[in-house]
Amino acid sequence: MVSTISSKPLTRSIDPKREAFCADLLAKMTLEEKVGQMVQADLSWHEDVRQLTREGRISSLFTIRDPKVINLYQHIAVDESRLGIPLIIGNDIIHGFRSIFPIPLALACTWDPELVEQVARASITEAMACGTTWNFAPMVDISRDPRWGRVAEGSGEDAYLSSTLGAAWIRGYQEARDADGRSAAACVKHYAAYGASESGKDYNSVDMSERRLREEYLPPYRAAVEAGVQTLMTSFNDLNGVPASANSFLIKRILREEWGFEGVVVSDYDAIGELVMHGFARDHKEATLRSVLAGVDMDMMGNAYHFHLAALVREGKVAETVLDEAVLRILGLKYDLGLFEHPFVDEADAHSALSLPESLDLAAKAAAQSIVLLKNEGGILPLNASAKTVALIGPLAKERQSLLGCWCFDGRVEDVETLAEVLERDLPADTNLIVEQGCAIDGGDLDLAGALKAAALADVVLLALGESDTMSGEAHSRAHLCLPGRQQELADALAKCGKPVVALVFAGRPLVMTKLVEETPSVVMAWHGGTRAARGVADVLTGKVNPSGKLSISFPRSEGQIPVYYAHKNTGRPVETSGTVQFNQAHKSSYLDEENAPLFPFGFGLSYAQFDYSGLKVLTPQVRKNETLRISARVTNSGKWHGSEIVQLYVRDLVGVVTRPVKELVDFRKIALAPGDSQTVEFELPAGCLSFLDENHHPVLEEGDYKVWIGPNSAEGLEGRFELID
Ligand code: BGC
Repeated sequence: MVSTISSKPLTRSIDPKREAFCADLLAKMTLEEKVGQMVQADLSWHEDVRQLTREGRISSLFTIRDPKVINLYQHIAVDESRLGIPLIIGNDIIHGFRSIFPIPLALACTWDPELVEQVARASITEAMACGTTWNFAPMVDISRDPRWGRVAEGSGEDAYLSSTLGAAWIRGYQEARDADGRSAAACVKHYAAYGASESGKDYNSVDMSERRLREEYLPPYRAAVEAGVQTLMTSFNDLNGVPASANSFLIKRILREEWGFEGVVVSDYDAIGELVMHGFARDHKEATLRSVLAGVDMDMMGNAYHFHLAALVREGKVAETVLDEAVLRILGLKYDLGLFEHPFVDEADAHSALSLPESLDLAAKAAAQSIVLLKNEGGILPLNASAKTVALIGPLAKERQSLLGCWCFDGRVEDVETLAEVLERDLPADTNLIVEQGCAIDGGDLDLAGALKAAALADVVLLALGESDTMSGEAHSRAHLCLPGRQQELADALAKCGKPVVALVFAGRPLVMTKLVEETPSVVMAWHGGTRAARGVADVLTGKVNPSGKLSISFPRSEGQIPVYYAHKNTGRPVETSGTVQFNQAHKSSYLDEENAPLFPFGFGLSYAQFDYSGLKVLTPQVRKNETLRISARVTNSGKWHGSEIVQLYVRDLVGVVTRPVKELVDFRKIALAPGDSQTVEFELPAGCLSFLDENHHPVLEEGDYKVWIGPNSAEGLEGRFELID
């Protein structure tokens, strides 16, 4: 549906001044200086970084965030190197710099591109003030495997949602300007299909059909290119036997030729050197050869290009024009960012841009909007004024560090408010708050007696559970997705205490929490929400914010279901079948010991309001290929709370030249409704969006019957049909 084959590569307007400036500089460069522009290093490198900078043999430094240190190296590059080419400073600003926002997987649950854009702008503004001019984000790797620790860094399982939000991240990162008019480049990563690492283990191999790659995994990268992303990072994994960091099919054919990407391609950290471990190159020299010929412009960590690229040119194995093209792209990037004019960061001003009240308010808003209400039996939430004693129990009750989540270097633990602190402040003055840890996040500590004593005194129990920040992120995969340590025992005991219990789950991924959900009347997915996570949760608990988040990824019932995702194929023996059933149920595509459906499907999320869907109208029951499908439904808020609903549009192509998924998200809209109000939501979908790849991977738009749904999530909704005609 969101196929990546396009007949029309992008074309950019050419700036003659820029071209002349870069060509001029290139003409003055020695071979070593050209190689130097293709080398990126951090200060832990085993080489003398200062001296190499002086010699013009380093183009970019990364993971430095102190403006003083950045200026020190920049002065060496600009004032002491022969050509004075400035460094570009890279960092991973994944969900905030000093003000930390929810992890991207959580932010994706807002389904709100504008909010994502604001978060990106606020994050890069802080980072630029401290000297960052290149952000290694957004990660747009589709992932359907919550075991993979890096699932936290992306927008979840769906190509359409990830593409939409990826473009928003890029706009926010790249459109910001500092006082000198400098901007920062975004870097879409990790190209490609890293999120499908086998068995959820980081860095693992990926073997996937070209159709799946192009239809399900590549669309967000293509959307990033269309959104004007200036750089792209190759991934660590091998794809169908060829490591992504030396994969000319990915880089040359798809990225450059088909999509017309003109920006810089950087490897991931030492991913070129790792070609040796992959068994794809005999040594670093061969690794250099394979990567440079595949089209990687810059070697992150420089372990290959720095040592071997010049020799390969001298030996005639690599044409110097290959380097020239890469160097022109890199110089062009530095030019576009304004680095030649303004290479230095204003040290005196840097810190005044950090943690501004408006950034922290945005962090609180984003945290609240990311929250997904998974269960609210008996309407326990929002908390009732009659709850005079509230017991906050659990290892996350007084946590700071864990709320920040993975990948934040400059977020300060002392800036994080704990849930206990915020509730103490925000609950009505006559509410008594009792706080008990109950158990540790991980490990054997458990104090059931203390927890039960607190619960016995309370009118309502808030159970703050989840993962620490170190349980997700790079190289932090988990095989068991249960609540760590003895948290489940704590939850089991409190479930029987006779008091209403609300579980608040802080985590960097979907957890398997089937038992918790069964035994607990109210469950709130709070993710790792950043510096103001606790305020976001408190706002939802007190009803100041009515939750509106919808899951960006399915939650499995058990690890054995993984990968479990909504856009799967029907198979020849689906469990829900109509017509003749030739075999008994046991011979269906199912488990003997587990349901097929996830615990919570993609797109799911409750509200304190009640949204009813009615009156589906397929306004164009027959659509021509060059026309637009129009379909509408009425959404009514029949509850007592003002609320927002994310209305989702899914389609299914019933018969194709190749089999098609049972549902695909093609659009969504967020609407706000007061109690008693209704709105007719009309979607318009150009029929061209229904094209997919045939058996030869050519785009086709097939005539025939389609199902279409407008609904609150991927598993429910009003169903209609339409026909696509010639
Ligand atoms: C990660 C990248 C990151 C890079 C630089 C690597 O280990 O895979 O996502 O941008 O390090 O920090």
